[in-house]
Amino acid sequence: MLNGKKIVLGVSGGIAIYKAVDLVSKLRKRGAEVRVVMTEHATKFVSPLLFSEISGNPAAVTMWDNRGEHSVEHIALAKWADLLVVAPATANILAKAACGLADDLLSTVLLATPCPKIVCPAMNSGMYTNPATQANLETLRRRGYTVMEPDAGHLACGVNGPGRLPEVPEIIAFLERFTALREGRLRGLRFLVTAAGTREPIDPVRYVGNRSSGKMGYAVAREALLQGADVTLVTGPSALTPPPYAKVVRVETTQQMLDACLAAYPDVDVVIKAAAVADFKPRDVADQKIKKIDPEDGMTVVMDQNPDILKILGSHKQQQFLVGFAAETQHLLENAAAKVRKKNLDMIVANDVSQAGAGFNTDTNIVKFLYPDGTVESLEKMSKDDVALRLIDRVLERRAAKQ
Ligand code: PMT
Repeated sequence: MLNGKKIVLGVSGGIAIYKAVDLVSKLRKRGAEVRVVMTEHATKFVSPLLFSEISGNPAAVTMWDNRGEHSVEHIALAKWADLLVVAPATANILAKAACGLADDLLSTVLLATPCPKIVCPAMNSGMYTNPATQANLETLRRRGYTVMEPDAGHLACGVNGPGRLPEVPEIIAFLERFTALREGRLRGLRFLVTAAGTREPIDPVRYVGNRSSGKMGYAVAREALLQGADVTLVTGPSALTPPPYAKVVRVETTQQMLDACLAAYPDVDVVIKAAAVADFKPRDVADQKIKKIDPEDGMTVVMDQNPDILKILGSHKQQQFLVGFAAETQHLLENAAAKVRKKNLDMIVANDVSQAGAGFNTDTNIVKFLYPDGTVESLEKMSKDDVALRLIDRVLERRAAKQ
């Protein structure tokens, strides 16, 4: 979402300024064009030369430099920016912005620009929690500014508390989400995505499970979020970190996944069920760890059928566009097409999990999209992120056609 964006990064004088240097670099890696405006105090920490080099544009400090192209520097920057971010934002620059003061380049650009403005406060906890700073932030929010809350923790001044500038990946994720919610093609849509495998306990230490890592479902959730959707991610146990801004519901058993899906279902527009759901569960779960048995005797675990979550969702379908996944090892197309019918789906993503580079715990997948009208679209091997992207393309097209 940040590719091609023109971002003015306002940098005020706080110790967290070192993160701003990395922020410029990461923004440029995402394809953004960055111009840095520094306060006079910021130049006491870092030379403008560093920001000029890292941004590829001259870092501006004063309104009184005649730079030719930007002879009226504050107006030129104010018009040029798609987005203005102040990071770190000190108590001083926040107070100036809240009062409408324009006594240096950054405060003047803040006053002049019509573009969206985000401030990332970073300061000593006492200054941050001071009613004056909080009142200034409230004023800025009322006037349409977006405030990225600081982290709490150990601060450079030696105290523990709120006021720390979030880490650069968090700031990037915040800016991406901010942009996606304003411009993403999925903005306003609510997605329910399931991921990873469910587990059915045998005793307190053992379970029946499967090989799903969650990579496919997490890729779908991440892509939907990046495009502005509101995403509820119902996930079985997974070693992966959920994408930022997902509403995460962690479950273990199929029954828990069913309950979580049913709770979210009435309010969602799109369901993508990438989870590998345990179809069976042990009839009896032992209270204590089962002890070793005589090898001659063997052991029998009686399994009961679990509910079919997707079929239940399909039987209650209203506005929801329902997408299933089919993990097959033979008769891929026939089996997947049968699931579309039986579960009342709008689309299924079929993967032959016996193929190399497809299915469980791989970074790639090889899938076919099947629809109720019998159309089949075969995709070559690609990353799970790319599968997610292509899947969302098709969901949007088919959903629009259905409506
Ligand atoms: O997580 P990864 O390691 O990245 O692996 C990805 C994946 C292989 C798990 C994924 O690509 C995939 O194929 N997911 C579906 C696995 C599966 O359970 O397939 P199935 O054919 O058994 O079920 C068909 C559909 O019904 C699935 O959408 C499944 O979520 C759903 N289902 C199945 C059984 C059940 N009791 N309830 C269900 O909702």
